[in-house]
Amino acid sequence: MHGIPVKRTIAVSSGKGGVGKTLTSVHLAAAAARRGDRTLIIDGDLGLANVDVLLGIKAEHSIFDVITGRLCIEDVLVKGPMGITVMPAGSGIAALQNLDHGLRERLMTGIRSVASRFDTVIIDTGAGISETVLQLNRLARINLVVTTPEPHAVTDAYALIKVLSECEDIPSIALAVNQVRSEDEGRRIFERLTEVATKFLTTRLVFAGSIPADPAIQRGVMARKAVQENSNFSLAGQAWTQCFHRLLNLADDWRNDGIQAPHTFDMSMKGTQL
Ligand SMILES: Nc1ncnc2c1ncn2[C@@H]1O[C@H](COP(=O)(O)OP(=O)(O)OP(=O)(O)O)[C@@H](O)[C@H]1O
Ligand SMILES: [Mg+2]
Repeated sequence: MHGIPVKRTIAVSSGKGGVGKTLTSVHLAAAAARRGDRTLIIDGDLGLANVDVLLGIKAEHSIFDVITGRLCIEDVLVKGPMGITVMPAGSGIAALQNLDHGLRERLMTGIRSVASRFDTVIIDTGAGISETVLQLNRLARINLVVTTPEPHAVTDAYALIKVLSECEDIPSIALAVNQVRSEDEGRRIFERLTEVATKFLTTRLVFAGSIPADPAIQRGVMARKAVQENSNFSLAGQAWTQCFHRLLNLADDWRNDGIQAPHTFDMSMKGTQL
């Protein structure tokens, strides 16, 4: 069962690393904050955190202090730009990469308890299909997978979608294609993935949007000011804002609405060619 009692909980994940999950997460959070939502961004890339770096904030404590019982979750939350609250993940802490069942459960319980105080919660996860990534996705109402157009990123995105689709409480997955040269490029990738997913998975794929490769984004990263009050400062910023609004509409439609994808799941599709 999904545990966070917040309608707009979006987990952002990817198969391959470096495709733009954290940038997507902070821009979705910015879009939420801009519309006046009390917004929390959880850095779920445990041990390799960088939400705080992208937002230019100083995090003294992290989720690690919560998991080890040194601090309660309220003590590690930091205020970021635009009033966004950040739950930092801790960097260079190897223990966070290999949480045992008990510690992971403690983390999930903490997240559930704090999330209810916010209107929108964004969870930036680490790359890949670790148990922590899957658990964080189970907490979310909306599961967003990010890829770039590169073939190996798309293949890894499908692998993640496949694993997520095996979680019975994730009936729909949204896909955003980042660093595209055109809106169409992203849509074509979505259509290709949908064709395969429809044949072999129980999950419904939904297009969340194409985000252009945009030099303004790299400048923001270098200046540790990834997000700005005004979404119009960059083309990619505008695309992420649109993506957020699409996801909001989905949040209204998904879960509890009885949508079922065709049940044609096939374990043999591990090596599916996309
Ligand atoms: N739309 C974009 N336009 C230009 N550059 C981008 C865009 N999206 C991502 N990048 C570049 O890709 C880099 C990686 O982005 P980001 O840190 O968000 O990826 P990630 O998926 O979170 O990586 P990791 O798997 O390491 O957590 C950024 O520092 C930036 O240089
Ligand atoms: Mg990241």
